[in-house]
Amino acid sequence: MITVLFAAPDLWGEYSDVLPKALSDAGIAAQVVQDAAPETVDYIIYAPSAPLQDFTPFTRTKAVLSLWAGVERIVGNDTLTQPLCRMVDPSLTESMVEWVVGHALRHHLGIDAHIVNPGHVWNPVVPPLARNRPVTVLGLGALGTACAQALAGLNFPVTGWSRTQKSVSGVKCLSGEDGLRQALTGAQIVVTLLPRTPGTENTLNADTLALTARGAVILNPGRGPLIDDAALLDALETGQIGHATLDVFRVEPLPQDHAFWAHRCVTVTPHIAADTRASSASGVIAENIRRAEAGQPLLHRVDRVLGY
Ligand SMILES: NC(=O)c1ccc[n+]([C@@H]2O[C@H](COP(=O)([O-])OP(=O)(O)OC[C@H]3O[C@@H](n4cnc5c(N)ncnc54)[C@H](OP(=O)(O)O)[C@@H]3O)[C@@H](O)[C@H]2O)c1
Repeated sequence: MITVLFAAPDLWGEYSDVLPKALSDAGIAAQVVQDAAPETVDYIIYAPSAPLQDFTPFTRTKAVLSLWAGVERIVGNDTLTQPLCRMVDPSLTESMVEWVVGHALRHHLGIDAHIVNPGHVWNPVVPPLARNRPVTVLGLGALGTACAQALAGLNFPVTGWSRTQKSVSGVKCLSGEDGLRQALTGAQIVVTLLPRTPGTENTLNADTLALTARGAVILNPGRGPLIDDAALLDALETGQIGHATLDVFRVEPLPQDHAFWAHRCVTVTPHIAADTRASSASGVIAENIRRAEAGQPLLHRVDRVLGY
């Protein structure tokens, strides 16, 4: 019987039934507990809200399994010597695709003009076809790839950019510094789905925002620090950027006095683009524990040097 410590108390209600069931369905004899002597714990389920910060006493723990895809709040924890895995969950991916496609289509079709039209103006502006609106997705990981493919499936010409060169069907893939400049040049919609690491901070800044097509739309469901806030506000003022739809911020909740709240060309969504769903995430956790117990490599292991 293995011991799984569920170290995210605020999420216990969602997982208390489904996680033990998923483990049992995977053929694993396990007790899932909220408290245990550290030296008896085999696996830790972690979320950023977890009070647990000192992993030193967990001497027999074989892996720390994050419920979140983004691991920037744990990856630099020096007490963590155990393997760390991030969450890649089919439902999380599905909801990110829905958020990105929904907000891309809002701007592509100019839907706002018809929702808010107090003067009842009959102004038949026909949007271009998707095939004539270049979209760039920064980050071609689990989420970026799924979003790029969904957008390509709607006929948007999609360019994707990542640290290492990728090959994604229907998507023009670029990498490296030159690749970033090429990917952004002329883009009309830019989606940022990079992790937060020292290497991705301010990927969108005054210099790179200037490369996009005039009036381009930014969709950021990745992390707040991917964008230089001041540079974005400047680009919105000059019209270089037409609109920014932002789900994530340097400080969350976004402070009431932040300029993004009041800006007419910024849409704020409160970090809801993609949530981990207990029902499917429990299956992902169970599969990873099954693999570890069978001596197979863990899935979605975080590279502690790269930070994601
Ligand atoms: N708003 C929300 O609700 C929400 C929900 C879940 C996740 N997120 C965010 O979405 C992010 C992406 O998730 P994911 O599961 O897709 O991550 P992932 O699978 O780890 O993919 C990350 C992608 O970013 C690329 N990358 C990393 N550092 C880079 C750099 N310095 N330059 C260029 N490309 C770089 C990676 O390149 P390689 O392919 O070459 O490694 C990879 O393509 C998460 O880290 C999290 O911050 C947000």
